[in-house]
Amino acid sequence: MSQPKKLFIKTYGCQMNVYDSERMAEAMGGQGYVQTDTADDADMILLNTCHIREKAAEKVYSELGRFRPLKEAKPDLKIGVAGCVAQAEGAEIVARQPLVDIVVGPQSYHRLPELEAKAASGAKALDTEFPEEDKFNHLARRPKAARGPTAFLTVQEGCDKFCAFCVVPYTRGAEVSRPADQVLREARDLVERGVKEITLLGQNVNAYHGHDGGLAGLIWALNDVDGLERIRFTTSHPNDMDDALIDAHGTCEKLMPYLHLPVQSGSDRILKRMNRKHSAESYIRLIERIRAARPDILISGDFIVGFPEETDQDFADTMALIRTVNYGQAFSFKYSTRPGTPAAERVQVDEAAKDARLQELQALLKDQQRTVQNAMVGKTVHVLFEKPGRETGQMVGKSEYLHAVHVTASDVLPGDLRPVLIVASNSNSLTGELVT
Ligand code: 5AD
Ligand code: SF4
Repeated sequence: MSQPKKLFIKTYGCQMNVYDSERMAEAMGGQGYVQTDTADDADMILLNTCHIREKAAEKVYSELGRFRPLKEAKPDLKIGVAGCVAQAEGAEIVARQPLVDIVVGPQSYHRLPELEAKAASGAKALDTEFPEEDKFNHLARRPKAARGPTAFLTVQEGCDKFCAFCVVPYTRGAEVSRPADQVLREARDLVERGVKEITLLGQNVNAYHGHDGGLAGLIWALNDVDGLERIRFTTSHPNDMDDALIDAHGTCEKLMPYLHLPVQSGSDRILKRMNRKHSAESYIRLIERIRAARPDILISGDFIVGFPEETDQDFADTMALIRTVNYGQAFSFKYSTRPGTPAAERVQVDEAAKDARLQELQALLKDQQRTVQNAMVGKTVHVLFEKPGRETGQMVGKSEYLHAVHVTASDVLPGDLRPVLIVASNSNSLTGELVT
């Protein structure tokens, strides 16, 4: 019997890429490929890339260069670039790095088997179209193999918001929602295979409109899926947090008390220049309404420092907003110029100021994060266990607030959902004891 061919996928960037990588592996599984976790023995290498900041895009080219010896040793090796760098740079990639055989954009990965066949014939295979057909319909149903207790499920792609710093509307295109029946079918399928928690994904997931009542409608439909215990969603725009969704946070049992709601800046002047279409004040009022619906909700955010024209006062406004909101989790970045976006043309903040601001902002966010985490000590949370921990006899899972929780117990299995008393707060996780 011949050996199955091996596929190595390296995923960069957001959770939507993690989902896409799984689906690409499934598409190639239909062609006899099995996944391997090293490039060294692969017959096909796919880099599923991110274009959101300059560094992310540059990493791809340095990684590709490292594959040269592998390609020389095995000329049949296929090297593909998928994801947002593929979409943004297309044929440029092959011009800059001729080792690459396949370039496939995020809307075309269902065509990967054809592209691989074309590459096998010695031609370069490029596809960065936004095809009429729906890639989700064209992908084979997920194989019935068992899987871990948590899964991502993409329900919406693309963005129409056009924040002045962001490449997403160009790389992922206009907002598109998957029909609810398709999503529900996929969710039930995941649950049959052991999944207990589903995170709904979209670049602008709360703009989802594939179900009556939008994302809240979909969440309520998922709430009725037997065996599904937890629902999360990410990433959201403040302007799409409608009343029904806020309400669901207070009333829908399976919807977890964690919300990632990026604000980017706390300065109205900068928010305007970012084309965010909301103010610092309206964001703070929104958080108040969400907390009124679900008082213990953990709020997470994204911040950009050093956006063009940002002054010390603008930065101070961002720090003030952070103090008002009190974040349990956050991601922060120095502004990175992205060619083709409106902000790229503007007067840039110098690098030293960006560095200093990022440090100050991250120190505050880290402090808040730790305080929120420390406050969990003495509380009972519910942990969905995922895998063994580093120490013998230890299991790790996530609380409803997405904190990692370690428990030493002999009778806990992945997929178990158990009440746990938090006894200690560590640098990046909590320690707990089972409540019996
Ligand atoms: N520079 C820095 N950060 C950016 N983000 C998006 N575009 C840029 C950019 N050009 C950040 C935003 C967004 C997150 C996914 O990445 O904070 O919410
Ligand atoms: Fe980018 Fe998000 Fe703004 Fe859309 S809403 S343009 S994805 S930052």
